[in-house]
Formats: sequence, C-alpha cells, structure tokens
Amino acid sequence: MTPATTPNVNVSAAALKNQNNLIPRPQSRVPAPGMFVLTATTALQVQTGNAELKRIADAFAAPLRRATGFPLPVSLGDDARGNFLFTLVDDPTLGDEGYELRVTADGVALRAHKPAGIFYGTQTLRQLLPAPVEQATLQTGAWDIAAGTIRDVPRFVWRGTMLDIARHFFKVQDVKRYIDVLAYYKLNRLHLHLSDDQGWRIEIKSWDRLATHGGSTAVGGAPGGYYTQDEYRDLVNYAAERCIQIIPEIEMPGHSNAALASYAELNADETARSVYTGTDVGFSSLAIDQANTYQFVDDVIRELAALTPAPYIHIGGDEAHSTPDDAYIRFIERVEKIVHAHGKQMIGWEEIARANLSPTTLMQQWKSDAVADAVKRGARVILSPASKVYLDMKYDPSTKLGLDWAGIVDVKTSYAWEPSTEIAGVAESDIVGLEAPLWSETLVTRADIEYMAFPRLIGIAEIGWSPEKNRAWDEYKNRLASHGARLRAMGVNYFASPQVPWE
Ligand code: ACM
Repeated sequence: MTPATTPNVNVSAAALKNQNNLIPRPQSRVPAPGMFVLTATTALQVQTGNAELKRIADAFAAPLRRATGFPLPVSLGDDARGNFLFTLVDDPTLGDEGYELRVTADGVALRAHKPAGIFYGTQTLRQLLPAPVEQATLQTGAWDIAAGTIRDVPRFVWRGTMLDIARHFFKVQDVKRYIDVLAYYKLNRLHLHLSDDQGWRIEIKSWDRLATHGGSTAVGGAPGGYYTQDEYRDLVNYAAERCIQIIPEIEMPGHSNAALASYAELNADETARSVYTGTDVGFSSLAIDQANTYQFVDDVIRELAALTPAPYIHIGGDEAHSTPDDAYIRFIERVEKIVHAHGKQMIGWEEIARANLSPTTLMQQWKSDAVADAVKRGARVILSPASKVYLDMKYDPSTKLGLDWAGIVDVKTSYAWEPSTEIAGVAESDIVGLEAPLWSETLVTRADIEYMAFPRLIGIAEIGWSPEKNRAWDEYKNRLASHGARLRAMGVNYFASPQVPWE
C-alpha cells in the first residue's frame, strides 16, 4: 500500500462510534489504534481478472465521489498501489458472502472468497464512514475510518423481504429505491408477490390479458399496472448487481381472482369473474380439474422461469379456502412437477406442507407450526412468523397505516426473537433463513413502504446475518439510534419509534 502522508495513530471518536454501530453486527471485530482518512489523493485498486469486482468497486466509489468531491480513481492491478485494495482470495471459510476487512492508517484491504463478499465489505465500509457520505450532494468531511479488522460471514443464506405489488402496484423505480436500502443492510432476497385477487403484475406473453385486464385494478380502485418482461428483467438485473435475488410469486390455486377475471376458461363454470378491489381473502380458486388450468400454470411458470436467474419459483398456496382439501393437495403436487419441469425448485406458503412434496421444496412458515411435519420428511423452511416479522402490522395502535390481525409488532418485538427456537420441531439446520413480508392493502406510496419496513427490517436483517450471541435489544437499540442519520441522508421515510433513542 502507498503510505498516507500523515499516519494517524489516533482515532476520532466519530470513527470509533461508526465502527461500534455496524448493522448487521459483524461476526468478529478487533479494533486497532489509529484510523484511515480519505483524502483527495485516495485511490482504489481492484485485483485483475474479475469484471464483477471492478463493477462493485465503481458502484462503491461513485456515490463517495459525489459526497466527498474527491476523484477516488478505481484502477485494475495486482501491485497493491492504492489505499483501498479489493482482492479475491482462496479462503473457503469466508463462503459465498463473507469478507475480511483490514483498516490501518495506510489504507483498507478488503478480501473475500467470492465477489458477493467484496460487495458486503463495501456496504460495511459505507457504515464505517460518517453518515453524510450517503448524501447525494457535496459534503464537508472529515472522512475517517477507524482502524481494525472485521471478519464477517452471514448466519443464514436466505435473508429476505417480500413486497406485495398486487394489492397496490409499485413502479420499478420505487422498488429499485427499496432494493438500495435492502442491500445496505445485507439482505439478499426480494420476494415479489406478483399476483393476487386484486391485480396481476407481470406480463405473460402467452396469456396477455392477465396483465392488461387482470393488472388494471388495485385495492380501493387505486391505479393498477404491471411490469413488462423487459422492465422485470431490468429489475432482476438491478437487484443482482446488489447481490439480491428476485423471487417471483404467482398465487395459486387461491388469491387468483385477477386471473379468473382475465380468462373465462380458468373458472369451473367457464364464466369470467369481475375484477376485485376489496381486501377479503379466500374466495377465489382456479378450477382444479380442468386441463386449461394446467396449460395456464405451465405457460406462466415457463415464462417466469425464463425471467428468473434464481433457482426458485414461489407458487403461493396460502388461504385456498374455496378449494376442497383433496383437490388442493392434488393441485399442489401437480404444480410442483411443473415447476421442476421448468428447471426450478418450488416455494409455497406453509399450507403446502399438507401435500407430499420433494424435500427440495421450501416451506414458508407464517402463522403456525404446520411446517414441523414436513421438516420431519426432510423439508427446509423460510421463517416469516407474522407476529414478529409481518411489516404490515402496526407499530402501535395509533399507526395510521397497516393492519393488526397478527398483533401489534413494535420495533423491539420484531428484533427480540430467535429463529432456532421459534417453531417446535424446526431447528437451526432446518431453516434456510428469514423473510419479512410487507403486504400492501393499506400502502400506496414508496414513503408508505419505507415507513412500515424501516426500522423493523433493519433488525430482521441483523437476525439473518449476525450470530445470536452478538444480539441483545438493549445494546441494539443504541446502534439503531445512530442509523437515523444514515436513513435520513438516504432519504428513507422511517418510523421514528419511541423505543429507540434516536440521535
Ligand atoms: C399470508 O399472509 N396469507 C401468507
């Protein structure tokens, strides 16, 4: 590394505080004397041979240039010229997402086994810098980074959130803004709820009325809308550049009124339903014993699979109250074969645990311990306990947005729980990870999404990433308090919960 002109043996209180306040809390952090100070001569060097590393470094440097006004050039090279060195190393103990970050007075060395680890290391670096670094305009420094070594790997591979774009429709640009914040907290899955009774939100070329007719409505008569396949691909790529997999969900056999309104032949009585703008659940069902239904499912999953680099397709399966039990089970087992035929694995809400399914199918728990039986047969689980992580539940009885059927979910409730003891019969090794759903019956704008998601989703991101032994609410709430300035700098409309001593 090129030595800094003035080695800093002392560390500023602000830099030390930033290092103490990382979220998610790193697996290990060893502070060292001194700090690195970003200046007009700071340069980044990226190891040659991996285009993704260069892209990640450029994406890290661009907003930094805007806030600092420094040129911060990014060069390719293997001769350690530069103050920030990004390098891939053959260290399988770092896994697919882990990283090691060493900060000294001379510079910053970021190493990972895979590019995603470098990406997460750059998110940590953003949090080590002062909050104004997140501003879109030129700020006055100082740009101090406290010295030390951070070695960090996530606890769970699945750290997600779900956004319901069916009850209300959200444009691609709004979802991109949401993705930016998800990535900042090292979440890596965005499950999009692409269809429901109130709207169908993805273009399906072989059944075009799904989007053009089924997508024309939303709850309460709000504007509908849908993503063209090109727009969807753009969103998938945007997420992938931030190490987030988009997981598409099409609801079946229930929550299907938008499809039933678009095509008469999907209904048992061959009569198209009216579009629906209310919020009841459980009244719609695909016709289980009609050939058309399986042609529809096959076409939709084929087109969706082609748009999905992730290995999973989510088929819903919840609250099919208008589908007889035996028909439901037959249907789900048949749909699983269709998903497999298109080269994907299946995910369904916990109700699918009643069917006899492949152990590769993921069960998404949300309201009960119904998944425990499937776990005995080898299934693995995504945990989304509604009373803890449903982001559409109110923070307190006075919250204007949201619902309360699963209870009041304050910031502490969403943080102070432990996945491995949440469901009897579901152990750590049975859990692929967590997902916090955000249903949109009451949410209309991006500001509404942000208000319900943040700050709760930040704590859920920490549960997914950090070891349990590093987590306690009384300590966490102070770290979270310091993130208020970061969220404000990013323009995020978070809820300033009175449980948190915001700074
Ligand atoms: C659900 O909340 N119906 C999965």
